[in-house]
Amino acid sequence: MTDLKVAVVGSGVIGLTTAIELQKSIRNANVSILSDGFNEDTTSWVAAGIFRPGGEFKGENKEITQKWIDDSWYYWKNIQDSRYGAEAGVTELSGYTFSNRSENAVRNPYIEKLVPIYRPATETELTSLCPQKWKFGSYYSTLLIENSIYLPWATEKFKADGGTVIHQRVDSLPSLGEKYDIVVNCAGLGSQTLCNDDELVPVRGQVIKVDAPWLKMFFYADSSTYIIPGFKSVTLGGCRELGSYDLNPDKYVSLGIRERCENLVPSLKGAREIRTLVGLRPYRKSVRVEKETKICMCGKKVKIVHHYGHGGYGVTAAPGTSLHAVRLVKEMWAGNSKL
Ligand SMILES: Cc1cc2nc3c(=O)[nH]c(=O)nc-3n(C[C@H](O)[C@H](O)[C@H](O)COP(=O)(O)OP(=O)(O)OC[C@H]3O[C@@H](n4cnc5c(N)ncnc54)[C@H](O)[C@@H]3O)c2cc1C
Ligand SMILES: *[C@@H]1O[C@H](CO)[C@@H](O)[C@H](O)[C@H]1NC(C)=O
Ligand SMILES: *[C@@H]1O[C@H](CO)[C@@H](O)[C@H](O)[C@H]1NC(C)=O
Repeated sequence: MTDLKVAVVGSGVIGLTTAIELQKSIRNANVSILSDGFNEDTTSWVAAGIFRPGGEFKGENKEITQKWIDDSWYYWKNIQDSRYGAEAGVTELSGYTFSNRSENAVRNPYIEKLVPIYRPATETELTSLCPQKWKFGSYYSTLLIENSIYLPWATEKFKADGGTVIHQRVDSLPSLGEKYDIVVNCAGLGSQTLCNDDELVPVRGQVIKVDAPWLKMFFYADSSTYIIPGFKSVTLGGCRELGSYDLNPDKYVSLGIRERCENLVPSLKGAREIRTLVGLRPYRKSVRVEKETKICMCGKKVKIVHHYGHGGYGVTAAPGTSLHAVRLVKEMWAGNSKL
C-alpha cells in the first residue's frame, strides 16, 4: 500500500537524485518523474561532472551552502567506494588548477578540508609540468561523476525501486495537485516559465568531447579553460555566456577552446573530436530549495517544493540539495493529519 504520491518534475541530475532519495527515505512513497527531456536532452548530460563547487555557488547562507557540499561529497564518495561505483559513473580524479591571476584563483575554501589532497603546486609543477609557466597553482584529488553513465543508472535504479517515469511536459505545477500529494520542482532552467522566476538565468557553456585516453589528470587554467578526463571521453572547455539561449555550437568558441587547451596540454593536438555539446546552466544567485503552497484550479491547496538553480555546480551539489529538498517534503507531509 502506498500513502504519499509525489511528482518530481525533471529528470536531470537534480530530479533523479531527488527521486531516488525520496524513495529511500520515505516509506510507502509512490514517486513519479514527469519530464519532457531525458538523458542527452538535459543540461546534466553536457556536464564534465567534476566535483568542484565554485565561489559563486551559494545557498541562503554560508552554513547551508557548506552543509550541501559536505553532504554531497560523502554521498558521492559512498557510491564511489561501493561495489557499484563504476557502474554508477563515479570515480576519483586528481589534477591541477593553474592561474597567473592570483592565489585566490587556485584556492577552494569549500573543499580544501573535505577532499583527500589539496596542496599548493610546487615550483617544479608550476614551471615544468606544462610548457607554459604559471605563477599560482594547486594540486588536488576529487571525484568525477559521468552523467552519461549516472543518469541512465539512476533512472534504472529508480524504476527498479518502484518508481514511475512519465514523458510529459508540465505547464503548471499546481495542476499536478489533482493527482499528487506533493510536487517537487526540479525543472532546472524550465523553472523560468513554471515559476515566473526572473532571477533564474542561463549561463551558456560549450564543450568538446574528445578521444584522449592517455590523459589521466584534470587541468584548469585562466579564461575558463579546462581539460577533464571522464569514463568515455575527455571534456575540453569552456565558456560562460550569461543570458545566451543559443543551443547551437559556435565554431569560433570551439576554435578558442581547442587553442587554449592545446596550449595548456599539447598532447591534445592528436585528440579526435567525438562531439561538441552546448548546455545552458540554470544560474541563480542563490540556489532555490524552498516550500510553497499554491491553489490549483480545482480549488485544492497544493504542496510544492522547489529545487533548482544550481548553475555550473549541479552535479557537484545534487545530493546535498536533494537531501535538503527531501527534508522539506517530509515537513510538508508531516503537516498532514495522515502522519
Ligand atoms: C558545459 C557545462 C559543463 C558543466 N560541468 C559541470 C561540472 O563539471 N560539475 C558540476 O557540478 N556541474 C557542471 N555543470 C552544471 C550542471 O550541468 C548543472 O548544474 C546541472 O546539470 C543542473 O541540473 P538540473 O537537473 O537542474 O537541470 P537539467 O539537467 O537541465 O534538467 C532539467 C530537467 O527538467 C525537465 N524540464 C524542464 N522544464 C520542464 C517542463 N516544463 N515540464 C517537464 N519537464 C521539464 C528537462 O527536460 C530536464 O529533464 C556544467 C554545465 C555545463 C553547461
Ligand atoms: C504509483 O503511481 C503511479 C502513477 O500515478 C501509478 O501508475 C502506480 O500504479 C502507483 N503504484 C503503486 C504501487 O501504487
Ligand atoms: C604567467 O606569467 C609569467 C611571468 O610574468 C609569464 O612568463 C608566463 O608566460 C605567464 N603564463 C601564462 C600561461 O600566461
